[in-house]
Amino acid sequence: MRTSERYRALPGYPLAGMKEVRRRIEAAGVDVIDLGTGDAQLAPPPAAVERLREVAGDPEYSRYGFQAGLPAFRETIAAWMHRRFGVEVDPVAEVLPLIGSKEGIAHLPFALVGPGDAAIMPDPGYQAYFGGVTFAGGDPHPVRLGPQHDFLIPLGDVPEGVAARTRILYLNYPNNPTAAVAPDAYYREAIDFCARREAILAHDHAYSEIAFDGYRPRSVLELDGSRELAVEFHSFSKTYNMTGWRLGWAVGGRHIIAALAKVKTFIDTGQYLGLQAAGVAALESWESWVPGNVATFQTRRDAAVAGFREAGFDVTAPKATIYLWIPVPGNEPSEDFARRALEQEGVIVMPGSALGKGGEGYFRVALTVPENRLVEAAARLGRLS
Ligand SMILES: Cc1ncc(COP(=O)(O)O)c(C=O)c1O
Repeated sequence: MRTSERYRALPGYPLAGMKEVRRRIEAAGVDVIDLGTGDAQLAPPPAAVERLREVAGDPEYSRYGFQAGLPAFRETIAAWMHRRFGVEVDPVAEVLPLIGSKEGIAHLPFALVGPGDAAIMPDPGYQAYFGGVTFAGGDPHPVRLGPQHDFLIPLGDVPEGVAARTRILYLNYPNNPTAAVAPDAYYREAIDFCARREAILAHDHAYSEIAFDGYRPRSVLELDGSRELAVEFHSFSKTYNMTGWRLGWAVGGRHIIAALAKVKTFIDTGQYLGLQAAGVAALESWESWVPGNVATFQTRRDAAVAGFREAGFDVTAPKATIYLWIPVPGNEPSEDFARRALEQEGVIVMPGSALGKGGEGYFRVALTVPENRLVEAAARLGRLS
C-alpha cells in the first residue's frame, strides 16, 4: 500500500509488543497492575447515566446533532464557564460541542495551518497536537519540558524563525504527563507571544477540575487579551469518568469557534444528542458530585506519593491531574524500564519516551486504581533496580 507523506511523518508506536507480553504473563497467573492509560476504574455521575437512559428511546435525540448540537448543552456549558471561571461566553457563537476534546484539538490545525506554518507544542505531550498539525500539512515544533523551566514551554527559547511562522501555540496545564501547573504570569506571556505573531493559543484544559490541596486552575479566557486569540478545550473524560463517552467542548474567540465548526462540518455530523443531554446532567451535578471524585484522586495521589517515596523513587506530589511523573532510576531508557516493569513485576507504566523524546528519563504513573494497588505497584517497582 502506498501511504501519504503526512501519514509517514507520524512516529511509530513505541510500546509495540507490550500487549502480547501482558497476555502471556496474565495467562501464566501474574496479577498485572495497569497504571499505563489515564482511564480510571471509576463510575460516571449517576445523573448522567440516568439522563442517557431516559432519552435513549426518544427519537428526537436520535437525529443528527450537526455542529449546533443540543441547545441546552451549549447553554449549560456557558452557564458553567461563568459559575466556574467568571467568564461570560455566548452559547451559540463561542461554544462548540466536540466528540471528545481530542477531536477538536486535532481538527483545529485544519483551519489554521498549512505548509510553511508552524505549531508549537509541549514535548512530552498529548499526541493529538502533533497528529493534527502533521495531517494539516503544518510544521510541528515540539519544545522540551523540563524541571529547569517548571515544565512550562520556555517561549523565549523558540527560535525567531519558528516563532514568526507560528499559527498555533498548544498549551496544556494542568499538564499531562508532567502534572505541572501554570501561573497567571505564564499565561500572560503566552498571550503576548501569540498576539505578536497572530497565532492562536489553544489551551488543552482536560484536567481543569482534577486539582488538589485547594488549588483551582484558571481558564485562559479569564485573562485580559485572550478573547480574540484563545480557544480552550474542555473534556468530560477525567472530571466525570466519562472517557469512553466521547464528549467535550471548545470555547473561545468566535472566529476560532466558527472556523473549527466549519472544518468539522466537512468531517463529522456532531455527537449523539442523547450524550449531550447526559452531558447537561453531568455539568449540573458538578457542585455536588465532582468534589467526591477529586477527593478519590487526592487520596490515591497521597497513597501513591508515599508508596513510591518509600520504594526509593524521587517523586514530586502533583497539585493536579491523575499522574505522577517520576524520574527513571539510573540512566536506563524509559522504555526498557517500562518493559522490565511489566515482564519482571507485572506493573504497566507509561515510559516517558512514548509521549515524545522530551519525556525520556521519566515514567508516568496514572492514578487509575485504588490506593492499595498503587502502593503494591510502587513496592514492586522498587524491587526493579
Ligand atoms: C492532555 C489531554 N488532553 C486531552 C485529552 C482527551 O480528552 P478527551 O477524552 O475529551 O478526548 C486527554 C486524555 O487523556 C489528555 O490527557
